[in-house]
Amino acid sequence: MYKLLIRPLLFLADPEVVHHFVFRWLKFFFKIPGIKNIVAAAYNNPDPHLSVNLMGLHFKNRVGLAAGFDKDAKLYDELSAFGFGFIEIGTVTPKPQPGNEKPRMFRLPDDKALINRMGFNNDGADAAAKRLRNRNKKIIIGGNIGKNKTTANENAIADYEYCFNALHDVVDYFVVNVSSPNTPGLRALQEREPLTALLQHLQNINAEKKFPKPILLKIAPDLTNEQLDEIVDIVKQTHLTGIIATNTTIARTGLQSNETLQKETGGLSGLPLKSRSTEVIRYLRKRTGNNLVIIGSGGIFTVEDAQEKLNAGANLVQVYTGFIYEGPGIVKKICKGMR
Ligand code: FNR
Repeated sequence: MYKLLIRPLLFLADPEVVHHFVFRWLKFFFKIPGIKNIVAAAYNNPDPHLSVNLMGLHFKNRVGLAAGFDKDAKLYDELSAFGFGFIEIGTVTPKPQPGNEKPRMFRLPDDKALINRMGFNNDGADAAAKRLRNRNKKIIIGGNIGKNKTTANENAIADYEYCFNALHDVVDYFVVNVSSPNTPGLRALQEREPLTALLQHLQNINAEKKFPKPILLKIAPDLTNEQLDEIVDIVKQTHLTGIIATNTTIARTGLQSNETLQKETGGLSGLPLKSRSTEVIRYLRKRTGNNLVIIGSGGIFTVEDAQEKLNAGANLVQVYTGFIYEGPGIVKKICKGMR
């Protein structure tokens, strides 16, 4: 139904306009009494065999919603009805910011892909924290944090600290995002010195909290093996809980879409990212043994794609582009296949 009827209609309009339209429509639709239970009954596949305990949390299944879809924590409750094992909000920054000029999100249907250069458009960490304050604790929520565009890299630690403190009481785990290609200079924070300083600082603050939270690092797929080795060293040294592999790529290899689309600046997600992100997961797992949690993200549309990531060493997976292309039934379909 989604792919045959709804998707063709949604794909007629600008992707970001559709995103906001769907958000508003779901908000409205879920106000109908009893609708959440009906949707949840239709899209969930409760099976204790799918559940897993990790990072001190109980996941009802291994399939989560990746960061960037519900940046401002406006729709996590409604989205949870579609069966997600966990939902990551953000990336949030300390101050609200508008992001890059529109248009900034592009569909590449011939490649089952998206290119985005959103640039961390968000309402700010405090607004997200406020929306999460009285949330349903049954949903596992990750808080993905970043820095404002106007903050120089030398001052980035203060931005991450602000977001970390703002969200600490209302999320279940944290993701330090230093891998978006759409904030100038951000990915330089993946280098040894600034990364060690940033992660160590967050861990120091974390240790002082009554209930320390698991912290994961989200990395780019465009790193060399040497850079991945360095990241593994730093993650071990700073006792992080895990790594999310991977964010979107700046590479444009093997695309079918027309040249104009391919040349849009930004991060590419979806099918063309699939094998590279799996490769990164496999490499990381080999280098880390069983000591780190790895969340796989990149090009998951089917149970086979999800299984490929798990076989490569991921403990959990996340979808974004697959949710757009496959529709709201994606989690149920993957979970059914996993059973
Ligand atoms: C993203 N992604 C992302 N990641 C992140 O850490 N913070 C963010 O704010 C965003 N924003 C964002 C916007 C859009 C429009 C897209 C398509 C993606 C990356 C996302 O979480 C995921 O890691 C990648 O898209 C790869 O997974 P998929 O899309 O191939 O399943």
